[in-house]
Amino acid sequence: MINIAIDGPSGAGKSTISKIVAAKLGITYLDTGAMYRAVALYAVNAGKDPSSSEDVVPLLADIEISYKKSGEDNIICLNGIDVSQDIRRHEMSKYASEVSKIPQVRMFLVEMQRNIARNSDVVLDGRDISSFVLPDAKYKFYLTASAEERAARRCRELADKGQIVPYERILQDILDRDYNDMHRDFAPLVKTDDAIEIDSSSMTLEQVVDAVLSHIERIDEGNGTGQ
Ligand code: DC
Repeated sequence: MINIAIDGPSGAGKSTISKIVAAKLGITYLDTGAMYRAVALYAVNAGKDPSSSEDVVPLLADIEISYKKSGEDNIICLNGIDVSQDIRRHEMSKYASEVSKIPQVRMFLVEMQRNIARNSDVVLDGRDISSFVLPDAKYKFYLTASAEERAARRCRELADKGQIVPYERILQDILDRDYNDMHRDFAPLVKTDDAIEIDSSSMTLEQVVDAVLSHIERIDEGNGTGQ
């Protein structure tokens, strides 16, 4: 199976890049962050505290997450209901980061991710794909960009969807999430030594996609350096 891991901090463009790379290669795209967001949404809708493992762990037995392809996009369903829009609400980013610290939540989702990767050619974007979910993946990327550039991009993305959130707040949220994601005890965000790092701060989308695809070609030709 072809498994391509694309990890990196929030707002580095992982989902956009992963989606395009998957489409160009004709394989599936799996947004693992959306799974954490779905668990967070379920917890919040149930009136529970997403940062409390006592609150969240008992809910896992009632959660079923599935993906459907719809044109260019993936639809994520939580117990059969399309939650693709709801999980993108700004506050869900913070709640997803909170539930993602809970080891039982991670193992619940990691099992699903490994199963999907075992059975299909897939680009997975996340934080721990290279380090924990699929440490043996042949293609590993660490996509990053400066916090300021990521905040500016997120600000524009939200504005396009009609959500006006001040830049300073978004920047602070990004810094907080970076800290949380990099410092949690279990499967934190790290760049593994064998992942190819791409800093997209001053690159266009096309340049990043081309860089990923050409590294994949090079690895296939046996010349991948892993750096
Ligand atoms: O990629 P995203 O912003 O949609 O992810 C939401 C949160 O989920 C993020 O703050 C960290 C967490 N996450 C994770 O811990 N591991 C993953 N593989 C993907 C996301």
